[in-house]
Amino acid sequence: MATANTSPPAAAAQVDAARATARAEFDRWALTYERSWLNEIIFFPCVRACQEEILRWQERRGGGGYRMLDVGCGTGKLLAVQARDDDAEILVGLDYSPVMVAKFRDQIRAADVGERLFAVHGDSERLPFADETFDVLTCCNSFHHYPHQAAVVREFRRVLRPGGLLLLLDGFRDNVVGWVVFDVGVTTIEKNVHHVSWRDARRMIWDAGFRDIRQRKMNVFAPVLVNAATVPVATAAAAG
Ligand SMILES: C[S@@+](CC[C@H](N)C(=O)[O-])C[C@H]1O[C@@H](n2cnc3c(N)ncnc32)[C@H](O)[C@@H]1O
Repeated sequence: MATANTSPPAAAAQVDAARATARAEFDRWALTYERSWLNEIIFFPCVRACQEEILRWQERRGGGGYRMLDVGCGTGKLLAVQARDDDAEILVGLDYSPVMVAKFRDQIRAADVGERLFAVHGDSERLPFADETFDVLTCCNSFHHYPHQAAVVREFRRVLRPGGLLLLLDGFRDNVVGWVVFDVGVTTIEKNVHHVSWRDARRMIWDAGFRDIRQRKMNVFAPVLVNAATVPVATAAAAG
């Protein structure tokens, strides 16, 4: 059943403005993104953390092929690295910035990984995939741009299969360093962004139907909140 958009016009306009700002920022940044110093100090450590978590999840479930979606994938470096894993059957990157998606498509053409990597232009709030399409869903350094974060986590849950793994990584703003870097610094620069507290992240993930939630603070240049959770196998259909 279609649901009515109940946002008041002013709030809706604010949300549209936030999306437009994010898209313009990343369309510009995409041209130099691969050379950014932020790669070394924050983005690459997130790639490594995801690799480790996926490895652990694979060990727990006894291995086997999997389909992966990276939301807010930027130029697709996490997927390009993960494509080296033979068990990764299909790897899809989705991003809201058309220029980021174009850069990722360049990478796909350059990478020799067969027909396994795909770039999709889209919005995290309306993932253009059927229910239970993926086994792994990652979202790194992008969540703070989403105007409706709880709705996005429900979308994550919708497209994951029973037993599927969610990895949601973003700035940790619950200590002094994180608050200064993310709530003050990044918010001043990027505007209209919101770094979620670890408590709210846990609540959104739980409310969306994920279980086995694990949260940790990863200390790199600035602290990163790593949220890992899975779709329960027995209750997967009931929670949807
Ligand atoms: C800081 S970059 C992170 C890219 C990559 N995940 C990484 O860690 O290097 C944030 C990305 O989120 C994307 N983004 C922002 N809002 C989005 C939305 N609503 N849906 C999908 N992607 C979005 C931006 O276009 C940008 O590429």
